[in-house]
Amino acid sequence: MFDRVAPRYDFLNHFLSAGIDRLWRRRLVRTLLRTAAPGEILDVATGTADLAIGLARGRRGVPAPEVVGVDFSGEMLKIGEEKVRRAHLADRVRLIKADALNLPFEDNRFAASAVAFGIRNMADTERALAEMIRVTRPGGAVMILEFSMPTLPVAAPLYRFYFRSVLPKIGRFFSKGSGTSYAYLPASVQAFDTPKQMTARMTRLGLADVSARPLTFGIASLYRGRKPFRDE
Ligand SMILES: C[S@@+](CC[C@H](N)C(=O)[O-])C[C@H]1O[C@@H](n2cnc3c(N)ncnc32)[C@H](O)[C@@H]1O
Repeated sequence: MFDRVAPRYDFLNHFLSAGIDRLWRRRLVRTLLRTAAPGEILDVATGTADLAIGLARGRRGVPAPEVVGVDFSGEMLKIGEEKVRRAHLADRVRLIKADALNLPFEDNRFAASAVAFGIRNMADTERALAEMIRVTRPGGAVMILEFSMPTLPVAAPLYRFYFRSVLPKIGRFFSKGSGTSYAYLPASVQAFDTPKQMTARMTRLGLADVSARPLTFGIASLYRGRKPFRDE
C-alpha cells in the first residue's frame, strides 16, 4: 500500500492535516532531543524520512545526532533518500530497507528510538514495540506519535465526521486509484489502541515512566517511555 501511495504521501499528509502533522513531529523531536543521551537515534517506519530529517537537524543547544531510519517500502525510502540529500543531511541520516518486526540491529545500540504514524500500520504492534525496546539502550527514550480519536464533547463528533466522511473522499480524489488507502486510515485509527490501551501496552512491555500527551484536542497522541536499567 505504501509503495503505491508514496508519490503523493507527503502532499496528502500535509494537505489533509492542514500542515499540523509537521508541528506534531516537531514536538516529538523537541521532547526526544531534550533528554536523549549522545548517540544514534532510530526512526522506525521512517517512510519519506520527515522525522529522521527533523531529528538530524537537532535543536538549539544540543549537538545534532546521527539518525538511522528503517522502512520496508522501497518507494517511500526512495523519496526519503532524495529529501535527505536535498536537506544536505546525507552524512547524518542513513535509511535502511528493513522490517520493523525484525530489526537488523544488536541489542542496546541506539540512544533512543521513535516511530511516527507507523506503529498502527504494523502487522504486530506488540512485536514492533518490543523490537524498538530491544535495540534502545537502558535509560533511552522510546517515543511513539500516533493518531488517536478525540474524546472532547464538541471536537469528537466534528472530527469523526471529517475523518469518516470528508477525508476518504479527498484522499480518493487526489490519490487516483489508491482511494482504499484513505478509507483504511480512519478505519485503522478507530480500530487501534486508545491512549489508555497504548500506555498499558508500553508498561506491560517493560517501559518505565510511561506517559501520553494529547495533541490538538487528542487527534494525535505523543507517547513516551524509558527503557529501564537492569537493576531498576
Ligand atoms: C503512515 S507511514 C509513516 C511514515 C513516517 N514515519 C511519517 O511520519 O510520515 C507508515 C510507514 O510504516 C511503514 N511500515 C509498516 N509496517 C512496517 C514494517 N513491518 N517494517 C517497516 N516499515 C513498516 C510503511 O512502509 C510506511 O512507510
